[in-house]
Amino acid sequence: MLLSLALVVILTSPALSTTIAEIQGHAFQSLYAGEKVTHLTGTVVAISKSGFYLAGHPVKDERVSTGLFVRSSASVSLGDSLSLSGTVSEYRSSRNDLSSTELISPSSILVTSSANTIAPILLGQDRSPPQGQLSALDVVAGPDAWLSVPNNVSQVDAGNESLKPQTYGLDFWESIEGMLVTVPSPVAIGFNDNYGEFWVHGAWNVTGKNSRGGLTMVLDLDGLPDANPEMVIIGRPLDDTTNPTVAMGTTLTDITGVVHFQYGYFYILPLTAPSVISSPTSAAPPTTISSSFDSCIITIGDYNVTQCLHFLYRYLGILLSCFLPVPLIPLKPESPLTQSQVENMAPTSSHMSAVASHIVSHLLSPDLLFLQEIQDDSGSTNNGIVSANTTLSNIVNAIMDMGGVAYAWVDVDPLNNMDGGEKGGNIRQAYLYNPDKLDLVPGSPTGNATEATAVVSDGSGGYTLSYNPGRIDPTNAAWKDSRKPLAAAWQTRNGDRLFSVNLQLTAKLDSSTTEGNTRPPINAWVAERMEQVAVVATFSQSLLASSPDASLIVGGDCNEYIYTTSVFAPLTALLSEVDSIATPPVPPEERYTYVYNGVTEQLDHMFVSAAVAGRGVSVQHIHVNNWAMNIAERASDHDPSVLEVKVC
Ligand SMILES: *[C@@H]1O[C@H](CO)[C@@H](O)[C@H](O)[C@H]1NC(C)=O
Ligand SMILES: *[C@@H]1O[C@H](CO)[C@@H](O)[C@H](O)[C@H]1NC(C)=O
Ligand SMILES: *[C@@H]1O[C@H](CO)[C@@H](O)[C@H](O)[C@H]1NC(C)=O
Ligand SMILES: *[C@@H]1O[C@H](CO)[C@@H](O)[C@H](O)[C@H]1NC(C)=O
Ligand SMILES: *[C@@H]1O[C@H](CO)[C@@H](O)[C@H](O)[C@H]1NC(C)=O
Ligand SMILES: *[C@@H]1O[C@H](CO)[C@@H](O)[C@H](O)[C@H]1NC(C)=O
Repeated sequence: MLLSLALVVILTSPALSTTIAEIQGHAFQSLYAGEKVTHLTGTVVAISKSGFYLAGHPVKDERVSTGLFVRSSASVSLGDSLSLSGTVSEYRSSRNDLSSTELISPSSILVTSSANTIAPILLGQDRSPPQGQLSALDVVAGPDAWLSVPNNVSQVDAGNESLKPQTYGLDFWESIEGMLVTVPSPVAIGFNDNYGEFWVHGAWNVTGKNSRGGLTMVLDLDGLPDANPEMVIIGRPLDDTTNPTVAMGTTLTDITGVVHFQYGYFYILPLTAPSVISSPTSAAPPTTISSSFDSCIITIGDYNVTQCLHFLYRYLGILLSCFLPVPLIPLKPESPLTQSQVENMAPTSSHMSAVASHIVSHLLSPDLLFLQEIQDDSGSTNNGIVSANTTLSNIVNAIMDMGGVAYAWVDVDPLNNMDGGEKGGNIRQAYLYNPDKLDLVPGSPTGNATEATAVVSDGSGGYTLSYNPGRIDPTNAAWKDSRKPLAAAWQTRNGDRLFSVNLQLTAKLDSSTTEGNTRPPINAWVAERMEQVAVVATFSQSLLASSPDASLIVGGDCNEYIYTTSVFAPLTALLSEVDSIATPPVPPEERYTYVYNGVTEQLDHMFVSAAVAGRGVSVQHIHVNNWAMNIAERASDHDPSVLEVKVC
């Protein structure tokens, strides 16, 4: 009688004596979510401020995690084997996060034995993260996989698919959620963030490895944009030690910790901070592309100097792109620009001279500079002033003070507060140019905020622009609250012409994390960037239709990866991106100007017409900032680039 009652209880209470493996299952979501489980057993392998991590009995199935986070303030010790009850929960801290399987409201915690040891999973040996893709949902989204447009078309959590940990990164990290793992021989792939966290890969197969030690976004073995699932972020150590300061390429002692989804990514929370074994010691060399006495050869630089400038240099073709958290240019204390920089910079002159010195000593003062993010003369003060004459002459003077070229400059003032960015700042693109090498093609007026420039005959068999410089289709809705492209027609001492378009497309602000629930991840404002590229392509086509042999360079901050091919298609049908056609070509893993959340990548691009491509181009990305020894030494979070083109 007693026995059959016990049998009934067992049969009608499927949650009795559940295992961690059963709770985790082989899908993203636990089948037990919301259910109470009793007599759960496991051994404490890590303790955090909000709970502890249990290791259950190992299982053969690699899809099934046997680790579990218990949200609890109970006092337990590492190595305690426990029996406990509680409720299974799929916790999500923000809407786009993947949920984290947890046991909440634990009760009846019984320590059955102490001082047990659990061997961590040795990543790269026991289990290895895949390369290439994060989610099967990305692969079916389109030919650009996780960069496909449209994005946000499916959710990981909507399905109940079995994990495929050998193929997809999210599945892999989910399959070891809550477990104790070791990253052997970790290599940092960028600087620490503000919380001391940093991204690594360990001793396992990786793709996109660059010469410094980072992982660059490249195409994976199937020809899809690589989402680098083999990298992982190391969080704050659980024992309150402090993570070391790292840079791209720093090697570290092995890291043992638990896998936990938080803040949009799968983290490894280390039991204790690792130590640095070695750090790269070589500083980034300056460009070897320098201005030439040959009037045919033009160098161009591009450097984003935070809310300040993006340079396309005119010398031998330098393309510099640099996101600066502080202004790059040494500003005089009374300069109006300093006001606009007060908010986002520590006004240390050492930082500012670092930037001017980069332009002079690392970019070698290119002949033409594409600048972006030039604020007006009153900085961010919202007072109706739109002229940037003072800002630009301060920049020019700063470069001259550092021994650089005596640049001339041109821009077109926007209408007050119509181009996005900080209110009152009126950021715009501008060109600096070396008047010894280049001049604007004469005969056309400077454009204004609302008049579109057009390709016109110059009356003597050549072509120029109706406004020079002038804005491209500035009243087109594609440019609402965004920067209108600045086009210019240049000529050398010998009369050879070069057309340029300086871009700053709408930024990716509000995008979702790559490891979130939404697939493909939300690529914010991509529809706007697509329209903007189409407008620029129409302009480029109008030039090439009149003058198929025209030398045209379109470049700047595109705020988009070249692997988002649907955005660039109209432009790449007409022009070639310089990295792939340069002599020598820049190897795909060395094409970067920026490191964001572990991924070494390129948002700044330069495209050239067939005439320019046919004469040969050189391009170099100068890693003055991303190769800095530590974050304090960098003048920006973007690296500049230098390009050399021939116009005859
Ligand atoms: C993403 O898709 C979800 C579900 O369709 C929707 O609720 C959400 O608003 C979308 N987000 C964006 C930014 O488009
Ligand atoms: C998920 O799939 C498993 C089998 O793989 C099945 O037992 C379970 O009922 C499914 N759950 C849901 C919510 O569809
Ligand atoms: C790593 O790559 C090598 C060579 O391609 C391959 O033989 C090996 O199986 C890979 N290892 C893992 C764990 O994928
Ligand atoms: C310049 O860099 C800053 C800081 O990273 C960034 O906020 C801004 O969008 C960048 N601008 C351009 C034009 O690249
Ligand atoms: C800015 O400089 C240009 C020429 O360099 C000049 O035409 C214009 O009047 C100046 N604007 C102001 C507000 O000083
Ligand atoms: C731009 O120039 C055109 C033609 O001269 C003029 O009609 C228009 O008012 C100007 N717009 C601005 C904003 O100055």
